[in-house]
Amino acid sequence: MTHPTTTSLARLVETADLLVTCGPGGVGKTTTAAALGLAAARTGRRVVVVTIDPARRLADALGLDGTASDRPHVVVGAAPGPGSFSALMLDAEHTFDQLIRDRAGDGADRILANPVYRAIAGSLAGAQEYMAIERLHQLHHSGDYDLVVIDTPPSRHAIDVLDAPDRLVRFLSNPVYRALTLPSRSLARVTNAATSAFSWTVKRLAGPKIVEDTIDFFRSISGLEAGLRQRAAEMSALLRADHTAFVLVSSPRAEAIDEASFLADALHEGGYRLGGVVVNLVHPLPPALHPDELSGLDALDGPLAEQVAYHRELAAVAEAERREMATLAELARGAPVRDVPLLDHDVHDLAALGELGQVLVSSPVG
Ligand SMILES: Nc1ncnc2c1ncn2[C@@H]1O[C@H](COP(=O)(O)OP(=O)(O)OP(=O)(O)O)[C@@H](O)[C@H]1O
Ligand SMILES: [Mg+2]
Repeated sequence: MTHPTTTSLARLVETADLLVTCGPGGVGKTTTAAALGLAAARTGRRVVVVTIDPARRLADALGLDGTASDRPHVVVGAAPGPGSFSALMLDAEHTFDQLIRDRAGDGADRILANPVYRAIAGSLAGAQEYMAIERLHQLHHSGDYDLVVIDTPPSRHAIDVLDAPDRLVRFLSNPVYRALTLPSRSLARVTNAATSAFSWTVKRLAGPKIVEDTIDFFRSISGLEAGLRQRAAEMSALLRADHTAFVLVSSPRAEAIDEASFLADALHEGGYRLGGVVVNLVHPLPPALHPDELSGLDALDGPLAEQVAYHRELAAVAEAERREMATLAELARGAPVRDVPLLDHDVHDLAALGELGQVLVSSPVG
């Protein structure tokens, strides 16, 4: 699949319908999602940013401290009209409930009240990734926004996010799931044979109710299977649509770059569009010392010698990062690459987000 390429992140935030920030843990995915969203809103677009576990102070700055923080909430004063900047915090469990309500009609209350459903709704492996994409789908189709920016959770493998819809389909095809959702009569036969030892053990350990609840749960969601499969297929297509782009965020450190490179390959192979690469937390290069200043420095001692050693250490870190950054530029396969300095403060308020957004959409120097 060929996707349109953009030459800058400025162009990307003006033209994309959906942006997904992804990358290794702790490199600034949540911050970048919010900063790109704010920059887009300031160009006059209606933007919503879906954050996942934002740092407490960032959540406060985005007005996400109340109980209804999983609903889009306009951040007042963030962007002048006609643009608007809204934010929400992903609540995987609530999104899952909504999905069941939309799909199960009259049967929804029974599923939602089932203790097995309650136990897995927020913690099913991959549920958070799946629900992030489900929420993106809902917001995209609401018609209320020109751009939806979605943050991704710190996955063990960042690729889990892309794989989530397909994984749900695989789960629905799993033989254990199939056995549990067999109609009662066939289930009775199966239960009498192979699964009886299993259910006897589980009943003994967990009590008979949990077994009944489990079977009831799987049986009640089996009616949703066709709908869930269709939804997974729609999401899979949406993630590959022309106006959807992934923004890969990394730091310039080797371990992060390894993971970013794995992810960039997976995006490429999966037919997803890489809209840009953000190299965050880059140490600025300290000003080079003039050769005249260098002579005699080694003879120094005391605080000045410490200063010189610190300067050299900083220069070595910054230079090593510049070498690593060359690898990231290759991963971009022609998509714009923007480096962002490690600021001397956290990015926890609108002013700092605006500043970061400006850096992201400005043209790289040189
Ligand atoms: N350029 C920067 N300069 C200084 N601090 C930054 C910068 N970018 C992000 N931060 C800070 O780094 C911390 C981690 O950022 P953030 O939460 O966005 O990372 P993340 O990739 O979403 O992490 P996780 O993988 O845990 O979700 C935050 O405190 C944020 O304010
Ligand atoms: Mg995060």
